[in-house]
Amino acid sequence: MKELDWANLPFGYMKTDYNVRIYYRNEQWGELETCSEETIPMHMAATCLHYGQEAFEGLKAFRGKDGKVRIFRLEENAARLQSTCRGILMPELPTERFKEAVLKVVRLNERFIPPYESGASLYIRPLLIGTGAQVGVRPANEYLFVIFVTPVGPYFKGGFSTNPYVIIREFDRAAPLGTGTYKVGGNYAASLRANKKAHDLGYACEFYLDAKEKKYIDECGAANFFGIKNNTYITPKSTSILPSITNKSLMQLAEDLGMKVERRPIPEEELLTFEEAGACGTAAVISPIERIDDVENGKSYVISKDGKPGPVCTKLYNKLRAIQYGDEPDTHGWVTIVE
Ligand code: PLP
Ligand code: COI
Repeated sequence: MKELDWANLPFGYMKTDYNVRIYYRNEQWGELETCSEETIPMHMAATCLHYGQEAFEGLKAFRGKDGKVRIFRLEENAARLQSTCRGILMPELPTERFKEAVLKVVRLNERFIPPYESGASLYIRPLLIGTGAQVGVRPANEYLFVIFVTPVGPYFKGGFSTNPYVIIREFDRAAPLGTGTYKVGGNYAASLRANKKAHDLGYACEFYLDAKEKKYIDECGAANFFGIKNNTYITPKSTSILPSITNKSLMQLAEDLGMKVERRPIPEEELLTFEEAGACGTAAVISPIERIDDVENGKSYVISKDGKPGPVCTKLYNKLRAIQYGDEPDTHGWVTIVE
């Protein structure tokens, strides 16, 4: 293999050697299969194609200085996938089967795990789709679980540096009691226009308010929001955002650093009061926020006065990365070492 330019990898798809698959037929999950095809042959009436029976996950593997490969919080991703399955009536894949599949696909593609110094990682993308044919709106009776991996660099430009965001009111990503808490493709289809609009206006990403009142902060594109003030980590409580595993981890790390943690509705005007803020997620890691513009209302909430990441974001980022790469002890049991 031609040596990859690990330090300059984009966040995108690259073909690797293998993916793994598990079929659900006759009301049970089958054996784990290894596959080198990138395509999925499927019935044209599959429910994933017509009625959005599709769930995905995103997690990462990191190569440490010690050469060991660590996967971050995979049980949490297994549990979130199960929650999504309950949300759109798909059969739940047991955590043990999820884990077996993740470990297998990472081992099979070992040569694609970026070296420690590059700061890149291996993105792991599990996918679960309804493959059984239906014409009436009903859940399928057959499913396919697939995981592929791809080496990736930073999701947002510049990696750990500040970016501007823009509030978009024109399009909702998810309804108040809709599928926002599940990781289903439909939410991302619903976000495409808002995301395009944000990019066209020159912003890193779109920023959503709650769909009902357009009053409270929801999330930032494919990442959760957090704000910092008075030694407190504050993050939205909402029925339409994805429960981010990165955010959950940062809440714990903030507590470990002696900070208070609040999960509550955050009114838009409160943005003015934050000393620091960030977008967080598996792909985004922590992306510190420079400012959030509310173009329609002619407002701009400037968060980073000097355009640089603040001290708390920096501390949290360093702590999280240190655990993921194995530079610091994994005191919370978040990491699975690939043997
Ligand atoms: N919010 C949305 C809409 C996402 O797609 C993601 C990415 O998974 C997140 C938040 C962050 O979640 P996590 O930290 O589990 O990756
Ligand atoms: C992730 O952080 O894993 C995401 O899902 C982001 C995105 C590319 C959808």
